[in-house]
Amino acid sequence: MNENLRIIRLIWLDSHISMDEMQFLDSVYELAVSYLDDERPLVDYQNFESLEKITDTNLQHGPMPYEQILLDIQHYLKYCVKTNQSGFMNPLWGGISTVALASELITSLTNTSMYTFELAPIGTVIEKSIISKMLGYVGYPDGAGTFTTGGSNGNMLGMLCARLKHNPMGMHTGYDNRNLVALVSEESHYSVVMAGNVIGIGKENIISIKSDSFGRMRADALAEEIKHLRAEGKDVFCVIATSGTTVKGSFDPLKELAEVCFRENIWLHVDAAWGGSALLSSKHTHLMDGIDLADSVCWDAHKMMGIPLICSSFLVKDESILAKVCNHTKSAHYLFQSEEKTNDLGHYSLQCGRRNDALKLFLAWRQKGDEGWSRLIDTYMKLADYVESKISLHARLELVSPREWTNICFRYSSEIIDQNALNKELRKRLMQNGNFMVSKAMIDGMYIIRLVISNPEITTSSLDNFIEEVVRLGEEIEKELPHK
Ligand SMILES: Cc1ncc(COP(=O)(O)O)c(C=O)c1O
Repeated sequence: MNENLRIIRLIWLDSHISMDEMQFLDSVYELAVSYLDDERPLVDYQNFESLEKITDTNLQHGPMPYEQILLDIQHYLKYCVKTNQSGFMNPLWGGISTVALASELITSLTNTSMYTFELAPIGTVIEKSIISKMLGYVGYPDGAGTFTTGGSNGNMLGMLCARLKHNPMGMHTGYDNRNLVALVSEESHYSVVMAGNVIGIGKENIISIKSDSFGRMRADALAEEIKHLRAEGKDVFCVIATSGTTVKGSFDPLKELAEVCFRENIWLHVDAAWGGSALLSSKHTHLMDGIDLADSVCWDAHKMMGIPLICSSFLVKDESILAKVCNHTKSAHYLFQSEEKTNDLGHYSLQCGRRNDALKLFLAWRQKGDEGWSRLIDTYMKLADYVESKISLHARLELVSPREWTNICFRYSSEIIDQNALNKELRKRLMQNGNFMVSKAMIDGMYIIRLVISNPEITTSSLDNFIEEVVRLGEEIEKELPHK
């Protein structure tokens, strides 16, 4: 048995855990190991109806034995998507960080909430240190930050900070939101529009700015739009730039955008949920030049850094704004020691109960070091270069968008009448075969396949196999569809 598990076993035995529970935990450990060793396809694809039919979801009045729970876990592991396999190239995350996985166990073992120092003393010290490390990368030496439930919430928090800065009294009196407008690039993540709804601005007041051929927001178009909106009587309070857009992986020109925002006195929030990790590599950090000129940023460690979901930071240059946005007056007298600036992290969060998401990032960082992160990002970029050049040299494959990050947008190209139908079917068969998982998107009316490198299991040889399977399937489908 693994040494870590032996220690945990001792802890549990000490707290009078029963032998049954002990055997159960041993068996769970064995199942976890066999999951990691398993060479089965990355997904045993079933549609909802058939999966529902074969899954026992009955929650009965009485208890079930541990043997049943073990069978449930086995069943779950059989039908889940094995995101640790090399064929998993779908969303913006993947793989397993062993240290972070162990940290998750410790987090659950020590089950606490991060709101007060009293309840999370060591957790508070660790969270503050890791936030401070990330602030250092972003260039906010006097800033503050918190861990959120994801980049989507980080974007919303950025907008809340922007609105408070714009109208400090609004937090007491409420906001008349109808005139407020936030500007985003046309490639921005959907969470920004959702945040417009949540904070009461309205989706129509989240206005898209034109991007260039790389998918980067155009600073000249931004300046023009601000002028135009102000002439119409609109109140532009926030610009949201993106570092690493979801589909194309583009990086907005932060320096140029910050110049416009500074001139026009508008808050600049950067959605770096996906691309923030560029800061970790001296080779690629230039993609985010100007990040120190922005006012706030969100950065997901659960994406390219491979920390298990959820691990997402929100960082702000002016600490006092975040504290004001999260101010809960005196109504939480039962929890907080004082309303003053304290080490109670609940003063910097929209949540009350909050998981310790910092621990897994902290321990993974200890194990990897700055150098290890840098190497990871550089390796991913090299793999992306590799597969990009394979695609661009292949007669049947077509790159659909220029590349900046590890997103590779391409399609199978042929003399078929309906190229979109072909590529749609291709992705479907890829998934049904269970060896590869990639996502899709629409670019300029084209159905494209988006391959993303954000999984430490991906190698040049898994990429070779992927291209081989794409071409084989493309040729197979080509024969079945009408030609021009
Ligand atoms: C650019 C961008 N921003 C924000 C998000 C949302 O992040 P989360 O899934 O952590 O809420 C995503 C998710 O893919 C993203 O790509």
